Amino acid sequence: MPVSPRSTEQIRRLVASDAVSLHELDRLGNPSPWSVAQYRQSLESGDFGLAIDAESQLLAYALFNRVLDEVTLLNIGVRPEARRRGYARRLLHEGFAALQVEGVTRCLLEVRESNTAAIALYRALGFRIDGVRRGYYPLAQGREDGLLMSVTLAQSAP
Ligand SMILES: CC(C)(COP(=O)(O)OP(=O)(O)OC[C@H]1O[C@@H](n2cnc3c(N)ncnc32)[C@H](O)[C@@H]1OP(=O)(O)O)[C@@H](O)C(=O)NCCC(=O)NCCS
Repeated sequence: MPVSPRSTEQIRRLVASDAVSLHELDRLGNPSPWSVAQYRQSLESGDFGLAIDAESQLLAYALFNRVLDEVTLLNIGVRPEARRRGYARRLLHEGFAALQVEGVTRCLLEVRESNTAAIALYRALGFRIDGVRRGYYPLAQGREDGLLMSVTLAQSAP
């Protein structure tokens, strides 16, 4: 049965000095992880991100790029041993709440069609599929489709 996040685990803003930890966590669950430099550049250029730590270790994060009233979810990840405890849901809820205050009304994302866990998470939060990018993602052999998804934040599920 899923365990609720512990109240001692606080959400904080990501900063550029998290880049190494972000890359390390991304490598654990992403076939094409971002480099340390990509994370550093993203955060230095003003992308908005949230993190949950446990005992000084990065447990989970979400990273967004905002353009006017829309935001793109660039990346989200949870350490494998901490999954299904509600961390990703919590990061997205709190991220959306902060972004809505800034006038953001819609969130967009792209996800590998084989990533059933992420697609289930997004559907649970009210995202719908808007389109498919054929062969967008490289595989060890061949390529796979990317699903384009979005949600209107005011309609995001609780
Ligand atoms: C996708 C990911 C971020 C989900 O993180 P998480 O903290 O485990 O997700 P949560 O516990 O907040 O789950 C919230 C809801 O999403 C759905 N969900 C999440 N993982 C699921 C899974 N493996 N199978 C089915 N549903 C799942 C469920 O509806 C879940 O609610 P429930 O536990 O009450 O049933 C995590 O699996 C991960 O880090 N994967 C590797 C990186 C990745 O794929 N990122 C997305 C790139 S687009």
